[in-house]
Amino acid sequence: MAELIDGKAIAAELRGQISTDVEELMAIGVTPGLAVVLVGEDPASRVYVSMKEKACAATGIYSVEHKLSAEVGEAELLELIAELNGDEKIDGILVQLPLPGHIDEAKVLEAISPSKDVDGFHPCNVGRLVTGNPVFQPCTPSGVMKMLEYIGVELKGKDVVIVGRSNIVGKPLALMCLAEHATVTICHSRTVDLPQKVAAADVVIAAVGRPEMIKGDWIKKGAIVIDVGVNRVGEKKLVGDVDFIAASKNAAAITPVPGGVGPMTITMLLYNTLVSAKRRAAKKG
Ligand code: GUN
Repeated sequence: MAELIDGKAIAAELRGQISTDVEELMAIGVTPGLAVVLVGEDPASRVYVSMKEKACAATGIYSVEHKLSAEVGEAELLELIAELNGDEKIDGILVQLPLPGHIDEAKVLEAISPSKDVDGFHPCNVGRLVTGNPVFQPCTPSGVMKMLEYIGVELKGKDVVIVGRSNIVGKPLALMCLAEHATVTICHSRTVDLPQKVAAADVVIAAVGRPEMIKGDWIKKGAIVIDVGVNRVGEKKLVGDVDFIAASKNAAAITPVPGGVGPMTITMLLYNTLVSAKRRAAKKG
């Protein structure tokens, strides 16, 4: 049976270290600050935003929420971002996605100062990730990398198969694994022979958003399985993109859903905000 990769426990340890660093910064007069912008009433987004705020409070990070109506004009949203870009107390700006259809998401993300872009979504930060000197790395993929590091998986020379090619997870993860000298294959909905591709992987990372699509008997004996998927089935049950029970029979280690990658994402947001505040403190001298 596979070892369980306990994202909650890893995240708790990292958050402890972040709290200590926040205290040290506060002692020199710098309180890390995060601004979260929520447009509209999407229930899932509201849950995520409230989790982010609680996590900030628990680690001593100052957070401020800007709730805007679903009908807000693009110009007003851009004005708020410009104001936050110039606000000295704010080290990180996060605009919760998705945005309502009448707002140009790309334009909004580009308006955030790259030096406060703690989500790592600004094209400047995406480009810097490609060339290997990122300012901020996007939170879910960097959470996956931290988990692999934590359990001692060395990626050098390994075959990594990523299922999913989103801008938020699949693509940046591929770049991060490449930077660690893995051989990376990105699979997606049009991939032919997906089971065979997955079966060749030393590390499988699933981020497609389809409940239990990756079957247990596709997994090579001794592989590491990271499941980024969070899919609601029925009223209450959450499952990942991997058939967890069946995959556990072949994998050496596997993340559960929930309690795997999820807690790491917010932890990396706190980490990015802390890094940004440390840069501010260094400038202050
Ligand atoms: N919506 C879903 N995931 C994310 C994320 O990581 N950041 C933001 N800003 N919005 C999201």
